[in-house]
Amino acid sequence: MDFSRFGKKFSAGTGILALMDDLGKAMEQGGDIMLGGGNPAHIPQINRIWRRRMEEILATEGEFERMVANYDTPQGRYSFLEALAELINREYGWGLSAKNIAVTNSSQSAFFFLLNMFSGTFDNDKKKKILFPLTPEYIGYADQAAEADAFLSYPSKIEFTGENSFKYHVDFSKLEITEEVGAICVSRPTNPTGNVLTDEEVQHLAGIAEEHSVPLLLDNAYGTPFPQIIFVDVKPVWNENIVLGMSLSKLGLPSVRTGIVIAREEIIEAVSSMNAIVSLASGALGQVLTLPLIKSGEILKISREIINPYYRRKSHQVLYRIRESFEGLDYAVHENEGTFFLWIWFKKLPITTRELYERLKRRGVLVVPGCYFFFGLKQPWAHRDECIRVNYSQDDNIVNRGIEIIADEVRAVLKKTPRQEKTSGIPPATGWEKAPSRT
Ligand SMILES: Cc1ncc(COP(=O)(O)O)c(C=O)c1O
Repeated sequence: MDFSRFGKKFSAGTGILALMDDLGKAMEQGGDIMLGGGNPAHIPQINRIWRRRMEEILATEGEFERMVANYDTPQGRYSFLEALAELINREYGWGLSAKNIAVTNSSQSAFFFLLNMFSGTFDNDKKKKILFPLTPEYIGYADQAAEADAFLSYPSKIEFTGENSFKYHVDFSKLEITEEVGAICVSRPTNPTGNVLTDEEVQHLAGIAEEHSVPLLLDNAYGTPFPQIIFVDVKPVWNENIVLGMSLSKLGLPSVRTGIVIAREEIIEAVSSMNAIVSLASGALGQVLTLPLIKSGEILKISREIINPYYRRKSHQVLYRIRESFEGLDYAVHENEGTFFLWIWFKKLPITTRELYERLKRRGVLVVPGCYFFFGLKQPWAHRDECIRVNYSQDDNIVNRGIEIIADEVRAVLKKTPRQEKTSGIPPATGWEKAPSRT
């Protein structure tokens, strides 16, 4: 059957589709150690809260019917929009009204709208692109543009922060904001790396965006005020030129598919209009489940006192296990400043991490090879084949077993495969040459 360009673009098998399929099938067969995928942990105290809320909804006369039997407005449920605006104003004093907020069926679909609103063909046939200043960046953006060649990414600058640790930064000396940039987009905390842009970097990006009259899209799916899976003290920012994406997923509600956009009214109207066309309205379940917690502020308390400490402890424990298991290997882990992912860089691996993924899969350990997070680069970058993403939200014993098998497999690869010079002509990673000598 002949599909339109749109149909072809969105139905063509992408690498990530194949990978997710692979991960899904392996999961279904069971028995595997699942360190791939983006599922949050099942935190018992948090699950109990959502169960309690469901029971309250069912026990309140008419509440369940009001939740499932009505379409909301395309912008969202007014009570939710108002309560969220109030909560955020109380916390940060941003002066939001309900008109600054829209709810979508997932932040994934919010980003589909936003990335296509600000890239592609504009009036006078001008072509514009989304600029991603901090590659590697969230895999979920990679195939979202309706038009071809709509993304432009810049490699991060690498700072070595310790013997076996590093941190990515925006390389402002390389960023070029030309006429063809329609928006700047970055996730903070960043999936896949666990990076959190510093306040200075965000201010700098916001300044550049404003200067060039393009919006800054800040994806806050793991950030503050909820779910607060962020381990460094940074300042949340918003202004009329910033579009903030949020989500209920990492609160432990990935299946309710609720995304939130905070932006100037004109952008909220456009997002609502797109939501009406694509979905008529968003589902109400997530909004109704969380509404009393947003009204009372309990959502902040559970984020700070349950969710944040839960992942912070897991982050420490997995890093400890890595230090023990990876002893003697040439590796570096990105500073884990947020999210529930570890980004591990194997510097002298003679095979790509796509091949390592296959080998690990044969041993029942599923990770995500790093190459999928390097879309939109102008030049190839060897670094893309040297990293893996590990989701550490599973039970500690499972995560630890997975880490041990990864260490063992990397050792086996190093023993059996002679080091091959990379012949692809790919330039070395920025900052690679500045690596401190390792003992
Ligand atoms: C950075 C980032 N943005 C957006 C999303 C999408 O979240 P949602 O479940 O709300 O679609 C994810 C999901 O993993 C993510 O990691």
